Amino acid sequence: MKTSKSFFILAASTGVALGQFCEHQWEGSFADHKVNGVPYLQARQDVPAPPLEIQPLIVNGPSSNRIDLIFFGDGYTEDEKDKFFADALFLAANLTDGQTYASVLPLMNFWAGFSSSAESGIGVGGQPLDTVYGLYRDGTELRGVYYDKPEVARAACQSTDACDFPILLGNDPLYGGLGGTFTTVTVSPINGPAVLRHELGHSIIGVGEEYDGGQVYRGVNSAQSTDSVPWELWYTEPATEPKIQRSNMPIQAYPWTLLNATQSWSQTFVSTGTYASYLLQFSVSGMTASTDLRAEIDGKDVGWAIKPEVGVDRYIYNMKMDKGLAPGEHEVKFSLLNEAIEGSAQLCNLEVMEYGEEFDLELGYHGLYPTFSDINETTYRPTNNMCLMRDIYTANFCNACMEGLWLSLLGPLSFIDNITQVALPDGSINATVHLISLAQSRQVPTPHEEAYTILWYCTDENVVLEDWTNSTSAIIPQGVTEFGVEVKFWTEQVRVDNAGILAEKQRSSVAR
Ligand SMILES: *[C@@H]1O[C@H](CO)[C@@H](O)[C@H](O)[C@H]1NC(C)=O
Ligand SMILES: *[C@@H]1O[C@H](CO)[C@@H](O)[C@H](O)[C@H]1NC(C)=O
Ligand SMILES: *[C@@H]1O[C@H](CO)[C@@H](O)[C@H](O)[C@H]1NC(C)=O
Ligand SMILES: *[C@@H]1O[C@H](CO)[C@@H](O)[C@H](O)[C@H]1NC(C)=O
Ligand SMILES: *[C@@H]1O[C@H](CO)[C@@H](O)[C@H](O)[C@H]1NC(C)=O
Ligand SMILES: *[C@@H]1O[C@H](CO)[C@@H](O)[C@H](O)[C@H]1NC(C)=O
Repeated sequence: MKTSKSFFILAASTGVALGQFCEHQWEGSFADHKVNGVPYLQARQDVPAPPLEIQPLIVNGPSSNRIDLIFFGDGYTEDEKDKFFADALFLAANLTDGQTYASVLPLMNFWAGFSSSAESGIGVGGQPLDTVYGLYRDGTELRGVYYDKPEVARAACQSTDACDFPILLGNDPLYGGLGGTFTTVTVSPINGPAVLRHELGHSIIGVGEEYDGGQVYRGVNSAQSTDSVPWELWYTEPATEPKIQRSNMPIQAYPWTLLNATQSWSQTFVSTGTYASYLLQFSVSGMTASTDLRAEIDGKDVGWAIKPEVGVDRYIYNMKMDKGLAPGEHEVKFSLLNEAIEGSAQLCNLEVMEYGEEFDLELGYHGLYPTFSDINETTYRPTNNMCLMRDIYTANFCNACMEGLWLSLLGPLSFIDNITQVALPDGSINATVHLISLAQSRQVPTPHEEAYTILWYCTDENVVLEDWTNSTSAIIPQGVTEFGVEVKFWTEQVRVDNAGILAEKQRSSVAR
């Protein structure tokens, strides 16, 4: 483990990386865990690492100068080793193939470390199985996946250089995960990628939530008031801001209740009647067909239909209504119509959002959107639903998070992997700077504009060797004892760089 680098990341995000609160998953008692003031991951462990077979998944450079993410498999038996490597690759590929982390991928490596578990799968009802890291769910809820043996996971992480962000991958096909010191995730085909990219967003960028009903709202995507908005430079229409997008959350609930066919689940709420449209959002699990469940507002069927590929897994549904709610009391009701799935059909969470007439629903519109916490406190986010920190089924970050992602990843890294020198017969030196493969040296093209500017100096006289500007090699004349190279990176995805992370200078002595 690169102690200094990892420490930087954790310290830079002031605790958020260590303790996440998340609707989908949160760290509970393990949040912000420190040992004598040292972040948990860096504290000395007193248990041996499990035997690990590590395979590269996507490797872009040396671990000493890349951010390394590594999957550690839990609940995979010896016979399921191939499945583990395939599952890990499925997730890594999904997060980086043309979406989510694609544009920053040259800064990252993905690895997979296998240790066999005695039992297959993960525990439920708070009881881990006999597995390497002891992953389990609290009840039967498709929500958090916790670990029973953090010290084993830490020992695994400390046993390799390639562990900046450890991911505990549970061999389970349904929704679940956790953000924080260890990110946990499952191989749910639909939810696995969605949960992982969201949790890594917390861990890497150091941001809180963007969805309603959460507890932690902070970082580059969160404004506590309209006076201090971190994404002002990303406003779509700066001249008209700050302009709060008028919306309201009249009800928000986490029933986590098993549904039965005898009695419906219902709750009432009050609308002010001053909004032009509304959305009913809810998540259910254990459903098998559209005929299993009826969702109603004021006795009217809202027309819920199952997303067939989800099967019995949990899924979050959004039903947008074009008409506003009348002033006064309303009722939201869920009725299980299929008795056969009693005991597994579950209503997880729900909310109603109301939108003012002038509310901008355009996906990429960056402005000021109110977000309502679990205790109905208002903060603001940059976009309505563009960001995967709000809508986990969106594959991408908003511009503010993307900028934060670049800066967080680049912070502990150097654009320069190394500088090599070759002595030429005339006594001069051919110096070559080996850069992280961004801009002109990208292997996989990006749709975003970016560029490296490279300046070479003879530091003896501090003169720029103009002939070699923007070239990765320069001829250093005979007699010069020291030279410098300055690398500046520009991407349209970063507009503010107060810490000067995008520019870097390195001096080298001529090796004769
Ligand atoms: C990622 O996974 C989701 C959910 O299974 C799928 O819909 C999507 O097509 C995948 N995308 C990529 C790029 O692999
Ligand atoms: C949140 O506060 C707003 C404004 O007072 C109110 O209209 C709404 O009903 C409240 N929502 C909840 C869930 O309490
Ligand atoms: C059936 O569901 C309702 C609504 O969630 C609940 O109040 C009731 O206790 C449940 N009954 C049984 C027998 O589970
Ligand atoms: C200097 O080295 C680089 C990289 O090996 C090479 O591409 C370039 O042609 C060399 N330049 C000269 C003048 O030898
Ligand atoms: C320098 O870094 C490049 C990657 O940018 C790597 O391929 C090369 O092996 C490194 N050379 C030395 C001498 O470390
Ligand atoms: C070097 O590259 C930068 C970035 O593309 C560009 O702005 C600059 O004009 C280039 N300088 C020269 C001398 O070509």
